[in-house]
Amino acid sequence: MAAPISGELSGYDQVVQGLIPGYASLARLGVALLAASPLAAQAGAEVLVAGCGTGAELVEALAQRPDWRLSAIDPSEVMLSAAQQRLGTAATGLTWQQSTVEALELEASFDGALSVLVLQALPDDGSKLAFLSALARCLRPGGQLVLVDLMRPALPLLEEQMAEAWLGFQRASQLEAPLELLEPLTHGAHPVGLARLTALVNAAGFGDPARVFQALDYEGFLLQRSS
Ligand SMILES: C[S@@+](CC[C@H](N)C(=O)[O-])C[C@H]1O[C@@H](n2cnc3c(N)ncnc32)[C@H](O)[C@@H]1O
Repeated sequence: MAAPISGELSGYDQVVQGLIPGYASLARLGVALLAASPLAAQAGAEVLVAGCGTGAELVEALAQRPDWRLSAIDPSEVMLSAAQQRLGTAATGLTWQQSTVEALELEASFDGALSVLVLQALPDDGSKLAFLSALARCLRPGGQLVLVDLMRPALPLLEEQMAEAWLGFQRASQLEAPLELLEPLTHGAHPVGLARLTALVNAAGFGDPARVFQALDYEGFLLQRSS
């Protein structure tokens, strides 16, 4: 077991836990699921963290699977350097790349991947499909992706109640005005429903999504690249 990573949490990390129901468990659960998948269970598996942000999934991956060879990518320099600062000396063993997933020129290179709260910010105008296709392309056949995102509510009748509950969750978490860094989480999200997500992931080269997590409208899925 690796030594726990210390380091100050950034403003993003302090606020995101009060904003996203279940956030504190997402990275831990996602890593545990991937670690039990056929390919990523192998010692020294290659794992991609797509949209690593300030490093929540990386911290968990290093704690649970110090043997994994981790690649962290994010197009934002601010996020990447916050993650590197948070990981401290543990950051040196990772491969870092300032890039979108779509721009990666890699094929069948990873045994598993995690993408938490990234897809939701992309419009469904071909951008979501391009992102998911790039993730499928990067994975080896049979490789799994843990995908966590804001979804469109399954029951429109409950939409208002879910929205009110979310505000109540934030108030109870004593969340103050969202920071600028949280802009992508709070505004301009493009959630899709399960049927649309299924069509998108199938077109990208994955099998049907298996839901493994839900907290209000935040849902986590396990996807496997078709062979
Ligand atoms: C809301 S943050 C989530 C960060 C982290 N996964 C978490 O759960 O805290 C979304 C991150 O995705 C990154 N991102 C946006 N578009 C991306 C893309 N096309 N490929 C990879 N990362 C992307 C953003 O820069 C941002 O750091």
